[in-house]
Amino acid sequence: MNNRPIGVFDSGIGGLTVLKEVVEQLPGEDIVYFGDTARIPYGTRSKETVIKYFFQSVRFLMSKNIKLIVVACNTASALAMEEAQKVFDIPIIGVIEPGSKAAVATTKNSTIGVIGTEGTINSGTYQRKIRRMLPSAEIIGIACPLFVPIVEEGWENSDVAYITAQKYLLELKEHNIDSLVLGCTHYPALRYTINKVFENKVTLVNPAYETAKATKIMLKELNLLSDKLDGGKADFFVSDDPEKFKRIGGNILRKEIASVQKVNIENL
Ligand code: DGL
Repeated sequence: MNNRPIGVFDSGIGGLTVLKEVVEQLPGEDIVYFGDTARIPYGTRSKETVIKYFFQSVRFLMSKNIKLIVVACNTASALAMEEAQKVFDIPIIGVIEPGSKAAVATTKNSTIGVIGTEGTINSGTYQRKIRRMLPSAEIIGIACPLFVPIVEEGWENSDVAYITAQKYLLELKEHNIDSLVLGCTHYPALRYTINKVFENKVTLVNPAYETAKATKIMLKELNLLSDKLDGGKADFFVSDDPEKFKRIGGNILRKEIASVQKVNIENL
Protein backbone atom coordinates (compact mmCIF):
# COMPACT_ATOMS: atom_id res chain seq x y z
CA MET A 1 0.00 0.00 0.00
CA ASN A 2 1.18 3.47 -0.80
CA ASN A 3 -0.83 6.66 -0.48
CA ARG A 4 1.55 8.93 -2.38
CA PRO A 5 -0.05 10.50 -5.49
CA ILE A 6 0.16 9.38 -9.10
CA GLY A 7 1.71 11.96 -11.44
CA VAL A 8 -0.11 12.51 -14.73
CA PHE A 9 1.76 14.41 -17.43
CA ASP A 10 0.58 16.02 -20.64
CA SER A 11 1.75 18.78 -22.96
CA GLY A 12 -1.44 20.64 -22.03
CA ILE A 13 -5.10 20.08 -21.44
CA GLY A 14 -5.78 16.96 -23.52
CA GLY A 15 -4.30 14.65 -20.88
CA LEU A 16 -7.41 15.26 -18.82
CA THR A 17 -9.03 12.55 -20.98
CA VAL A 18 -6.52 10.16 -19.38
CA LEU A 19 -6.92 11.65 -15.91
CA LYS A 20 -10.68 11.14 -16.21
CA GLU A 21 -10.21 7.43 -16.94
CA VAL A 22 -7.68 7.06 -14.09
CA VAL A 23 -10.09 8.70 -11.64
CA GLU A 24 -12.90 6.40 -12.81
CA GLN A 25 -10.85 3.22 -12.55
CA LEU A 26 -8.79 4.20 -9.48
CA PRO A 27 -11.08 6.44 -7.41
CA GLY A 28 -8.98 6.12 -4.25
CA GLU A 29 -5.79 7.51 -5.79
CA ASP A 30 -4.59 11.08 -5.33
CA ILE A 31 -3.29 12.65 -8.54
CA VAL A 32 -0.90 15.47 -9.36
CA TYR A 33 -1.52 16.63 -12.95
CA PHE A 34 0.98 18.73 -14.83
CA GLY A 35 0.11 20.25 -18.22
CA ASP A 36 2.96 22.02 -20.00
CA THR A 37 0.56 24.59 -21.46
CA ALA A 38 3.27 27.19 -22.10
CA ARG A 39 5.03 24.87 -24.56
CA ILE A 40 2.17 22.99 -26.23
CA PRO A 41 2.13 21.67 -28.95
CA TYR A 42 4.69 18.93 -28.54
CA GLY A 43 3.38 17.26 -31.69
CA THR A 44 5.32 19.44 -34.12
CA ARG A 45 8.61 19.55 -32.19
CA SER A 46 11.84 17.61 -32.58
CA LYS A 47 12.66 14.58 -30.47
CA GLU A 48 15.43 16.51 -28.64
CA THR A 49 13.03 19.27 -27.64
CA VAL A 50 10.30 16.88 -26.52
CA ILE A 51 12.85 14.97 -24.42
CA LYS A 52 14.08 18.21 -22.81
CA TYR A 53 10.56 19.43 -22.01
CA PHE A 54 9.43 16.04 -20.79
CA PHE A 55 12.45 15.58 -18.51
CA GLN A 56 11.80 18.99 -16.90
CA SER A 57 8.18 17.99 -16.37
CA VAL A 58 9.22 14.69 -14.80
CA ARG A 59 11.54 16.53 -12.41
CA PHE A 60 8.67 18.82 -11.42
CA LEU A 61 6.32 15.90 -10.81
CA MET A 62 8.97 14.05 -8.82
CA SER A 63 9.26 17.10 -6.55
CA LYS A 64 5.64 16.34 -5.58
CA ASN A 65 6.62 12.97 -4.09
CA ILE A 66 4.68 10.89 -6.61
CA LYS A 67 4.89 7.09 -6.79
CA LEU A 68 4.43 6.59 -10.54
CA ILE A 69 4.11 8.70 -13.68
CA VAL A 70 1.39 8.26 -16.29
CA VAL A 71 2.44 9.88 -19.56
CA ALA A 72 -0.91 10.88 -21.01
CA CYS A 73 0.71 12.67 -23.94
CA ASN A 74 1.07 10.37 -26.95
CA THR A 75 3.86 12.49 -28.45
CA ALA A 76 5.95 12.38 -25.26
CA SER A 77 5.21 8.65 -24.89
CA ALA A 78 6.38 8.09 -28.48
CA LEU A 79 9.51 10.26 -28.42
CA ALA A 80 10.77 10.52 -24.86
CA MET A 81 9.53 7.73 -22.65
CA GLU A 82 12.22 5.18 -23.34
CA GLU A 83 14.91 7.77 -22.61
CA ALA A 84 13.14 8.79 -19.40
CA GLN A 85 12.91 5.20 -18.21
CA LYS A 86 16.68 4.96 -18.51
CA VAL A 87 17.28 8.14 -16.52
CA PHE A 88 14.61 8.35 -13.82
CA ASP A 89 14.23 5.95 -10.96
CA ILE A 90 10.42 5.85 -10.90
CA PRO A 91 7.87 3.64 -12.68
CA ILE A 92 6.70 5.38 -15.87
CA ILE A 93 3.76 4.18 -17.93
CA GLY A 94 2.83 5.64 -21.31
CA VAL A 95 -0.17 5.37 -23.61
CA ILE A 96 1.48 3.61 -26.56
CA GLU A 97 1.95 0.11 -25.18
CA PRO A 98 -1.60 -0.21 -23.75
CA GLY A 99 -3.09 1.35 -26.90
CA SER A 100 -1.15 -0.99 -29.18
CA LYS A 101 -2.10 -4.06 -27.17
CA ALA A 102 -5.78 -3.15 -27.40
CA ALA A 103 -5.52 -2.60 -31.17
CA VAL A 104 -3.98 -6.03 -31.65
CA ALA A 105 -6.69 -7.62 -29.49
CA THR A 106 -9.39 -5.81 -31.48
CA THR A 107 -8.44 -6.31 -35.12
CA LYS A 108 -9.82 -9.24 -37.09
CA ASN A 109 -8.32 -8.47 -40.50
CA SER A 110 -4.91 -7.39 -39.12
CA THR A 111 -5.31 -3.99 -40.78
CA ILE A 112 -4.94 -1.25 -38.22
CA GLY A 113 -5.01 2.53 -38.52
CA VAL A 114 -3.18 4.85 -36.14
CA ILE A 115 -3.83 8.58 -36.01
CA GLY A 116 -1.85 11.11 -33.96
CA THR A 117 0.34 14.19 -34.12
CA GLU A 118 3.12 14.45 -36.69
CA GLY A 119 5.66 13.63 -33.95
CA THR A 120 3.82 10.48 -32.87
CA ILE A 121 3.19 9.16 -36.39
CA ASN A 122 6.64 10.02 -37.80
CA SER A 123 8.37 8.38 -34.81
CA GLY A 124 6.85 5.04 -35.88
CA THR A 125 6.56 4.01 -32.22
CA TYR A 126 2.96 2.76 -32.43
CA GLN A 127 3.74 1.02 -35.71
CA ARG A 128 6.77 -0.78 -34.20
CA LYS A 129 4.95 -1.85 -31.03
CA ILE A 130 1.96 -3.21 -32.96
CA ARG A 131 4.17 -5.04 -35.45
CA ARG A 132 6.13 -6.64 -32.60
CA MET A 133 2.88 -8.07 -31.21
CA LEU A 134 1.33 -8.92 -34.58
CA PRO A 135 4.06 -9.33 -37.24
CA SER A 136 1.54 -9.85 -40.06
CA ALA A 137 -0.23 -6.56 -39.36
CA GLU A 138 -0.68 -3.90 -41.99
CA ILE A 139 -0.47 -0.60 -40.11
CA ILE A 140 -1.32 2.74 -41.65
CA GLY A 141 -0.33 5.84 -39.68
CA ILE A 142 -1.79 9.25 -40.49
CA ALA A 143 -0.93 12.54 -38.81
CA CYS A 144 -4.00 14.72 -38.22
CA PRO A 145 -2.58 18.03 -36.92
CA LEU A 146 -5.82 20.01 -37.30
CA PHE A 147 -7.72 17.78 -34.89
CA VAL A 148 -6.12 19.31 -31.78
CA PRO A 149 -7.18 22.94 -32.45
CA ILE A 150 -10.63 21.76 -33.59
CA VAL A 151 -11.18 20.02 -30.23
CA GLU A 152 -9.75 22.94 -28.24
CA GLU A 153 -12.16 25.22 -30.07
CA GLY A 154 -15.03 22.96 -28.96
CA TRP A 155 -15.88 22.09 -32.59
CA GLU A 156 -15.51 18.33 -32.35
CA ASN A 157 -19.03 17.58 -33.60
CA SER A 158 -19.19 20.33 -36.23
CA ASP A 159 -19.20 20.30 -40.04
CA VAL A 160 -15.61 21.55 -39.95
CA ALA A 161 -14.61 18.50 -37.92
CA TYR A 162 -16.47 16.16 -40.27
CA ILE A 163 -14.95 17.55 -43.48
CA THR A 164 -11.48 17.55 -41.94
CA ALA A 165 -11.90 13.98 -40.72
CA GLN A 166 -13.15 12.83 -44.14
CA LYS A 167 -9.97 14.16 -45.72
CA TYR A 168 -7.55 12.75 -43.14
CA LEU A 169 -9.23 9.36 -42.88
CA LEU A 170 -9.79 8.65 -46.59
CA GLU A 171 -6.60 6.60 -46.96
CA LEU A 172 -7.54 4.51 -43.93
CA LYS A 173 -10.94 3.81 -45.47
CA GLU A 174 -9.31 2.74 -48.73
CA HIS A 175 -7.11 0.29 -46.83
CA ASN A 176 -10.16 -1.24 -45.16
CA ILE A 177 -8.87 -0.91 -41.62
CA ASP A 178 -11.08 -2.55 -39.03
CA SER A 179 -9.63 -0.85 -35.94
CA LEU A 180 -8.28 2.62 -35.36
CA VAL A 181 -6.04 3.82 -32.53
CA LEU A 182 -6.95 7.33 -31.37
CA GLY A 183 -3.28 8.10 -30.73
CA CYS A 184 -3.56 11.63 -29.36
CA THR A 185 -5.01 12.93 -26.12
CA HIS A 186 -7.63 15.05 -27.89
CA TYR A 187 -8.99 12.50 -30.34
CA PRO A 188 -11.42 10.61 -28.07
CA ALA A 189 -13.46 13.83 -28.18
CA LEU A 190 -13.85 13.29 -31.96
CA ARG A 191 -15.26 9.80 -31.54
CA TYR A 192 -18.71 10.73 -32.86
CA THR A 193 -17.33 12.45 -35.97
CA ILE A 194 -14.83 9.69 -36.72
CA ASN A 195 -17.51 7.02 -36.33
CA LYS A 196 -19.66 8.97 -38.79
CA VAL A 197 -16.86 8.99 -41.38
CA PHE A 198 -16.40 5.23 -41.02
CA GLU A 199 -20.17 4.63 -40.84
CA ASN A 200 -19.58 2.83 -37.53
CA LYS A 201 -17.71 0.02 -39.30
CA VAL A 202 -14.37 0.52 -37.56
CA THR A 203 -13.63 -0.15 -33.88
CA LEU A 204 -12.05 2.83 -32.18
CA VAL A 205 -9.31 2.07 -29.65
CA ASN A 206 -8.96 4.65 -26.87
CA PRO A 207 -5.46 4.53 -25.35
CA ALA A 208 -6.64 6.76 -22.48
CA TYR A 209 -8.98 4.03 -21.23
CA GLU A 210 -6.43 1.26 -21.85
CA THR A 211 -3.71 3.21 -20.02
CA ALA A 212 -5.83 3.66 -16.91
CA LYS A 213 -6.46 -0.10 -16.95
CA ALA A 214 -2.73 -0.80 -17.31
CA THR A 215 -1.93 1.68 -14.52
CA LYS A 216 -4.17 -0.20 -12.14
CA ILE A 217 -2.46 -3.48 -13.01
CA MET A 218 0.99 -1.94 -12.60
CA LEU A 219 0.18 -0.39 -9.22
CA LYS A 220 -1.14 -3.73 -8.03
CA GLU A 221 1.96 -5.60 -9.24
CA LEU A 222 4.27 -3.09 -7.59
CA ASN A 223 2.22 -3.11 -4.41
CA LEU A 224 1.65 0.61 -4.77
CA LEU A 225 -2.15 0.82 -4.72
CA SER A 226 -3.63 3.35 -2.31
CA ASP A 227 -5.46 1.86 0.65
CA LYS A 228 -8.36 4.28 0.07
CA LEU A 229 -11.20 2.93 -2.07
CA ASP A 230 -12.44 6.36 -3.11
CA GLY A 231 -12.20 10.03 -2.26
CA GLY A 232 -8.91 10.59 -4.10
CA LYS A 233 -8.15 14.23 -4.87
CA ALA A 234 -6.47 15.85 -7.87
CA ASP A 235 -4.11 18.84 -7.82
CA PHE A 236 -3.53 20.68 -11.10
CA PHE A 237 -0.39 22.51 -12.23
CA VAL A 238 0.32 24.23 -15.55
CA SER A 239 3.15 26.29 -17.03
CA ASP A 240 0.87 29.00 -18.52
CA ASP A 241 -2.43 30.76 -17.85
CA PRO A 242 -4.45 28.73 -15.29
CA GLU A 243 -7.74 30.36 -16.31
CA LYS A 244 -7.75 28.94 -19.84
CA PHE A 245 -6.90 25.51 -18.46
CA LYS A 246 -9.79 25.77 -16.01
CA ARG A 247 -12.23 26.73 -18.74
CA ILE A 248 -11.36 24.15 -21.43
CA GLY A 249 -10.39 21.52 -18.85
CA GLY A 250 -13.74 21.90 -17.11
CA ASN A 251 -15.43 21.04 -20.43
CA ILE A 252 -13.32 17.90 -20.87
CA LEU A 253 -13.91 16.69 -17.31
CA ARG A 254 -17.51 17.90 -17.34
CA LYS A 255 -16.98 19.38 -13.92
CA GLU A 256 -15.46 22.52 -12.54
CA ILE A 257 -11.75 22.60 -11.80
CA ALA A 258 -11.56 24.65 -8.63
CA SER A 259 -7.87 25.42 -8.42
CA VAL A 260 -4.97 25.39 -10.90
CA GLN A 261 -1.49 26.61 -10.00
CA LYS A 262 1.00 28.07 -12.43
CA VAL A 263 4.58 26.86 -12.05
CA ASN A 264 7.86 27.69 -13.74
CA ILE A 265 9.72 24.58 -14.81
CA GLU A 266 12.18 26.14 -17.28
CA ASN A 267 15.10 25.82 -14.90
CA LEU A 268 14.44 22.29 -13.68
N1 DGL B 1 -0.95 15.81 -26.03
C1 DGL B 1 -0.49 15.69 -27.38
C2 DGL B 1 -0.54 14.20 -27.79
O1 DGL B 1 -1.26 13.41 -27.23
C3 DGL B 1 -1.30 16.53 -28.34
C4 DGL B 1 -1.04 18.01 -28.24
C5 DGL B 1 0.39 18.38 -28.58
O2 DGL B 1 0.77 18.36 -29.77
O3 DGL B 1 1.15 18.67 -27.65
O4 DGL B 1 0.18 13.82 -28.67
